[in-house]
Amino acid sequence: MIPIKSESELKIMRAACRIAATVLDELCKLVAPGVNTYDLDQTGRKLLDKFDARSACFGYRIGSKRFPAHTCLSVNDEIVHGIGILKRVLKEGDIVSVDVCVEFQGYIGDNARTVPVGEISADKQKLLSVTEASLKAAIDQARPGNRVGAISNSVERYIRPHGFGIIRDFVGHGVGKSMHEAPQIPNFGPRNRGELLRPGMTLAIEPMISLGRSKILMGDDGWTALTVDGSDAAHFEHTVLITSGEPEILTIPGLPG
Ligand code: MF3
Ligand code: CO
Repeated sequence: MIPIKSESELKIMRAACRIAATVLDELCKLVAPGVNTYDLDQTGRKLLDKFDARSACFGYRIGSKRFPAHTCLSVNDEIVHGIGILKRVLKEGDIVSVDVCVEFQGYIGDNARTVPVGEISADKQKLLSVTEASLKAAIDQARPGNRVGAISNSVERYIRPHGFGIIRDFVGHGVGKSMHEAPQIPNFGPRNRGELLRPGMTLAIEPMISLGRSKILMGDDGWTALTVDGSDAAHFEHTVLITSGEPEILTIPGLPG
């Protein structure tokens, strides 16, 4: 069952998502050659503190391991869940995926974006713009009457002509009181699959795309997911509310209130 949020829950969701988007924006602005990922992560922590929010990633448990950083910072062939506190200096030509997942008053806002470090190659630039456009196409399917598969299928159809790799081991998800709620939202698959979308559902839609193969590899740190062929990967994510009309992107930056 996919949770339906009440108006009072949505009020808090909107605030949580606005904070998540604001922090993501601020961190992306700081990305530049010479910046290190530890400092970015610490800045994220401080900004969240300022908004009376906390990282939903920090301490996130899978089995017995706990995620040790406040944001996910994934560089080049790292796809998702890169550990920002592992100090690493960003260099010209890199791409970095910044994922900010926030808890505010018991509700979660989740968003991510891949940004260039200085000047990047035309290939990398194309990867970023195509992945972002696939997210836009997917969000446009987030309407009542469609099934979850309409979102999945639109990413696949958008990406396929470009020949890029669709990461299949990670999926978008419902989001609200917890970071991962029903449904799972793969970035591929038939349009008529999955539950019907209804107003009040809040979904984190997040295509993860590589310039090469789809296959992943887990890093030695137990968290970071990398492309098996070393190709660059991009990740764009928004938290979206299904309404009776147009999809409402909740992760839009703004001042609290
Ligand atoms: N946005 C990420 C997700 O949906 C946040 C993961 S936090 C981590 O999976 F702790 F799992 F790394
Ligand atoms: Co997510």
